Amino acid sequence: MEQALTITVTVNGTQVTRSVAARQHVVDFLREELGLTGSHIGCEHGVCGACTLRVDGDIVRGCLMLAVQAHGCRVDTIEGLSDSKELEKLQKAFYEKNALQCGFCTPGMLMAAQDLVRMKKKFSREEIRSHISGNYCRCTGYQAIVDAIDEVING
Ligand code: FES
Ligand code: FES
Repeated sequence: MEQALTITVTVNGTQVTRSVAARQHVVDFLREELGLTGSHIGCEHGVCGACTLRVDGDIVRGCLMLAVQAHGCRVDTIEGLSDSKELEKLQKAFYEKNALQCGFCTPGMLMAAQDLVRMKKKFSREEIRSHISGNYCRCTGYQAIVDAIDEVING
């Protein structure tokens, strides 16, 4: 029988305590235990970026982190950053630049892009491309995504 452990995590500003399987990944915990399905699961081995979350201020792959490793941490998801309006400018730019099609990559892409926006510096298009290089999009060809991020960062 798999071992269960009790964890307490602050998710989008709310403290939650749950018993979780020792091997459960944090993105599965968010989706299955808390119903926060905005973080997507693609490759499940750290390549596609669909599961990107913010943990204690840094973006991480939710499929490479165990839920038990998030014990005592603050976890922010696409839902939390959308509700707080932190992503408002990026979301508007993505919409206006047509930077999404199926939308599967979009939550992770926004989380990664916001990581750059928060640095409050100018970045070249090459630097933007480099920063989102761990986030795969199978639809858009990236041009419009870079356009949207560029607009928010560089005006
Ligand atoms: S599902 Fe986590 S990186 Fe692809
Ligand atoms: S919009 Fe479909 S994968 Fe990016």
